[in-house]
Amino acid sequence: MVAVFMSDDTGEPEVELEARLEERETFEPPESFVEQANVSDPDVYEEFEENWPDCWERAADLLSWDEAYDTVLEDGDAPFYEWFTGGELNASYNCLDRHVEEGAKNRAAIKWEGELGETRTYTYGDLLNEVEAFAAALRDLGVEEDDVVTLYMPMIPELPIAMLACARIGAPHSVVFAGFSADALATRMNSADSEYLVTCDGYYRRGDALNHKEKADKGLRGVENDVQTVVVDRLGDELTHFLGADAHDYGELVADHEGASVEPVSRDAEDMLFLMYTSGTTGEPKGVKHTTGGYLAYTAWTSHAVLDVKPEDTYWCAADIGWITGHSYIVYGPLALGTTTMMYEGTPDYPEKDRLWDLIERNRVDTFYTAPTAIRSFMKWGTEYPERHDLSSLRLLGTVGEPINPRAWKWYYKHIGGEECPIVDTWWQTETGGMMITTLPAINEMKPGSAGPPLPGIDARVVDAAGEEISAGEAGYLTVNDPWPGMLRTLYRNDERFIEEYWQEYSDPDADEWVYFPEDGATVDEDGYVTVLGRVDDVINVSGHRLGTMEIESAIVGVPGVAEAAVVGGDHEIKGEAVYTYVILEDDAEPSEDMRERIVAAVEDDIGPIARPEEVLFTPELPKTRSGKIMRRLLEDIASGDELGDTSTLRNPEIVDEIADQVDSGA
Ligand code: WT7
Repeated sequence: MVAVFMSDDTGEPEVELEARLEERETFEPPESFVEQANVSDPDVYEEFEENWPDCWERAADLLSWDEAYDTVLEDGDAPFYEWFTGGELNASYNCLDRHVEEGAKNRAAIKWEGELGETRTYTYGDLLNEVEAFAAALRDLGVEEDDVVTLYMPMIPELPIAMLACARIGAPHSVVFAGFSADALATRMNSADSEYLVTCDGYYRRGDALNHKEKADKGLRGVENDVQTVVVDRLGDELTHFLGADAHDYGELVADHEGASVEPVSRDAEDMLFLMYTSGTTGEPKGVKHTTGGYLAYTAWTSHAVLDVKPEDTYWCAADIGWITGHSYIVYGPLALGTTTMMYEGTPDYPEKDRLWDLIERNRVDTFYTAPTAIRSFMKWGTEYPERHDLSSLRLLGTVGEPINPRAWKWYYKHIGGEECPIVDTWWQTETGGMMITTLPAINEMKPGSAGPPLPGIDARVVDAAGEEISAGEAGYLTVNDPWPGMLRTLYRNDERFIEEYWQEYSDPDADEWVYFPEDGATVDEDGYVTVLGRVDDVINVSGHRLGTMEIESAIVGVPGVAEAAVVGGDHEIKGEAVYTYVILEDDAEPSEDMRERIVAAVEDDIGPIARPEEVLFTPELPKTRSGKIMRRLLEDIASGDELGDTSTLRNPEIVDEIADQVDSGA
């Protein structure tokens, strides 16, 4: 399953990291930030350690409980851990009612902006009303506690409304990213045995009205259950959609139930809040199960401690709610803390490449959280776009999803943060529910390219193949050696696969020692800062030397003129695998022999001659999934001259042939 990259005699990885460490500098948290931060006492690390697991009461205390819990951590049936057992609460109550009761009825909860420029603001009072109305409507449709409701919607306010309405009546939601295909929807609905779907007619992308309903209908044809569907009318006259026999109009349902009062159902802390499907090493998506108490406490705590969210903030996580980042840090964490959370429907370059900066300026956004891949696009577009806007409202920046190369980090720090905002580089996963490794922005110095130390209470380590901790500077595997409240509880209806995927590698069941394996490679430095190298399945083996593709990419994107790079291993007769690099240049740079040489030299300089690219291919784009992840498998196929795998899940399938043609013509 796992591509082991440490197969030499000693079991030690041979990845040479000196060069990468050398290019680091450190940055101190700005004083102005420290003075106002939610968490600024460095003792927090010790407090958590000395008082573990009771330290997690600090997270639970951020919530309102209907019934107090008896036990913080129940580990009798590890790794099926339980948190805050005996406790009861409702997530919708915690995200809405209690803020209204505390006088925040008129505070903006969600500020939404459509791609064409229309805006909608929901106060906490508005949001509660609509959530109650829709919760009542769902009940009328037959939704009962514990029924899984599938939500297949783009970035429109009705998505978080539907999530909270489900939470209110104790029906777990399963959000399927709107960019996923009809087949993906069907697979997930069947896997969850879901009988309810909330979707919409369509949405805008770069000014075009996309027909989403058609895709949903196609998906429904592959669903085994009889499904009741609710359709949100996002596009009005722009797109006429026809409701089938089992379909209901969202607007009508909400109007019919206007003013309804729906008591939030008290859920056991361990009751499922939602399911989120994610891809694994096999083709079958994994249904990650998150719970009401632990997940909500964990996202609230990390939003408070890491994102420094305060009720009076305007906070913006520019992710899609169809992914875990949006669940945890657009919806549940921020709303649990009673802040104003932004939502934007469209793309960052529509109608112009300054769209996001314009939005930040107009809304006086305090905190901005995005992905390194986006930052690299901004870099490519150039500084003129952020320079057009007053970004002085920003106090904190964040990144998530992949390693950030120091050059992009520094660009973000300088051109978006004005050298006055700390950056949190947050490592976590769908499975972890919330952030695990990151600096605390008022406490730790920042090291570009390194996520930072594990959060207080998180025992993350970097180990060798035998599970022994390795020395600073060497590459190994990331493990998490203690449970945490936001962790997945199991894979939906598949406890066996849950154990196989995450607990098999490093645990010692006979000794009842359980170690979580996230399948990432990492290094740790002398200060305990973790640099995540990427999934261990993205690692290549050249002449018996193991190289992180992420590292090579980091070297390449350090070359002036390079915007983005993807590195994969391709079959090689002599070396086993060789390094193939696909490079996107910045707009003002030209592909040339000279550029190629500089890229090769940078790789040799940063990592060593062993990582010397076999081929450097210039391409205008990389094949990406709809979620923005580079489809390495296809690049590997091209590099190896293999038959190309499935391209149907790509956002830009046409680019694959374009690149393949270049390889064939020997360009
Ligand atoms: C994988 C998880 C976390 C929500 C979005 C992705 C990679 C995530 C970082 C980071 C380096 C990172 C890891 C991880 N990853 N954050 N800050 N630095 N790598 O969630 O789809 O479950 O993917 O994303 O490889 O295992 P996901």
